[in-house]
Amino acid sequence: MAHLFEPLALRSVTISNRVAVSPMCEYSSDDGFANDWHLVHLGSRAVGGAGLVLTEATAVEARGRISARDLGLWKDAHVEFLSRIVRFLEARGAVSGVQLAHAGRKASTAVPWEGGAGVPPAAGGWEPIAPSAIPFSERTLTPRAMALDEVAEVVRAFAAATRRSVAAGFRVIELHFAHGYLVHEFLSPLSNRRQDAYGGGFEQRIRLALEITRAVRAEWPDRLPLLARLSCTDWVEGGWTLEESVELARRLAAEGVDLVDCSSGALVPYARIDAVPGYQVPFARRIRAEAGVSTAAVGLISTPAQAEAILRDGDADLVMLARAMLRDPYWALHAAEELGHPEARRIPVQYLRAF
Ligand SMILES: Cc1cc2nc3c(=O)[nH]c(=O)nc-3n(C[C@H](O)[C@H](O)[C@H](O)COP(=O)(O)O)c2cc1C
Repeated sequence: MAHLFEPLALRSVTISNRVAVSPMCEYSSDDGFANDWHLVHLGSRAVGGAGLVLTEATAVEARGRISARDLGLWKDAHVEFLSRIVRFLEARGAVSGVQLAHAGRKASTAVPWEGGAGVPPAAGGWEPIAPSAIPFSERTLTPRAMALDEVAEVVRAFAAATRRSVAAGFRVIELHFAHGYLVHEFLSPLSNRRQDAYGGGFEQRIRLALEITRAVRAEWPDRLPLLARLSCTDWVEGGWTLEESVELARRLAAEGVDLVDCSSGALVPYARIDAVPGYQVPFARRIRAEAGVSTAAVGLISTPAQAEAILRDGDADLVMLARAMLRDPYWALHAAEELGHPEARRIPVQYLRAF
C-alpha cells in the first residue's frame, strides 16, 4: 500500500488517508456565516477523497477577521450551517476540521481580489489589535497594543469557539499560530515589543500560545485531536527561529497538541523566501524528529509522488495541500490511481460508473 493511503490515527479519530485539505480563506462569508459556497467547496474535496478537510481560518472574534468576508465562530448562530457542512464531510468519509484563528494586526483588510489593503474604521473596517502598535506593512492599519485584559479576552474567545466547534460536530481543531496573525505576532520579537508577561524572552512570547492551547484543550474532548499550525521561521534575521519552533512544539505537545502543521513566514512583507517545491518539508522533519510530535508538511506539494516520498522518508505524518486542491478537488482519487493503488480510492457510489 502507498504510504499516502495508510490511515492515520490521532486519539480516537482515524483519518482514512494522509491527504489533508489545507485551510484556505474563501472570503465569501457575511457576518462570519458559512453558506452554500463553503458547503460545495469543502464538500467537493471530501467527495474527492481527501482524508481530512479543514475549514479556512475561522475567526474567534469579529475583530479577529482578516476581512469582513471571513468565516467565524464568535457567536452561537454560526454553528448551524457549519454543522450541516460537517455532516456532509463526515458522511463522505472525510474527517472534518476547523481552523480557529485571530488575525491580529492583519485584520480589517479588503479581500485579495479587491487589493487586500487595510480598511479603516471610517470606511467600514475596524481597529486591529496586536501585541504592539506596529503595522504589518504600509498598506495595512496600525494596530492598537492590547491591554492585559484583552489578552485574556482572546484566550476566552478561543475557548468559546472551541465549545461551538464541539456543537458543530467537528472532529479536529487546528489552532492557527502561523502566517503573521495574532499568536505568531506574540511569538516573534519583530512584532512583539511588549515588556510585560507576554513579551521579551522566549517564555513570555510563547505564553499566549500556551494559554490558548490549554484553554482550548480544556473544552475540546480528550478523544478528539488538536493540531497547531506554526510558521517555523520568519525567514528574517532577528525573527522567530526554527530552534524556537522545535521547543514550542515540545511545549505544545505537552499541553495536548497531537500534530504540528509546519508552515513558515508571513510575519513581515520583506522576508526573502526561496519557495521551491517542498521547501517547508525540512521543518516538519526536524520538528517530528526533535520534538517527538507528529507533523504535517505543507507548501508547494503538488504531485502524488512528491507527497508519497515525504511520508515514506519519515518527514511528516500528514500532507496538506492547498492550491493543488483548488486545481483538482479529486486530487486524492487521482493520486491513488497514479501511485498504482486504485483500490484505495474512496469513490462515491453515485460516481462508480465513471471510475
Ligand atoms: C486561497 C488561499 C487561502 C489560504 N488561506 C489560509 C488560511 O485560511 N489559513 C492558513 O493557515 N493558511 C491559508 N493559506 C495557506 C495554505 O493553507 C498553504 O499553507 C499554502 O498555500 C501553501 O500550500 P500550497 O503550496 O499547497 O498552496 C491559504 C492559501 C491559499 C492559496
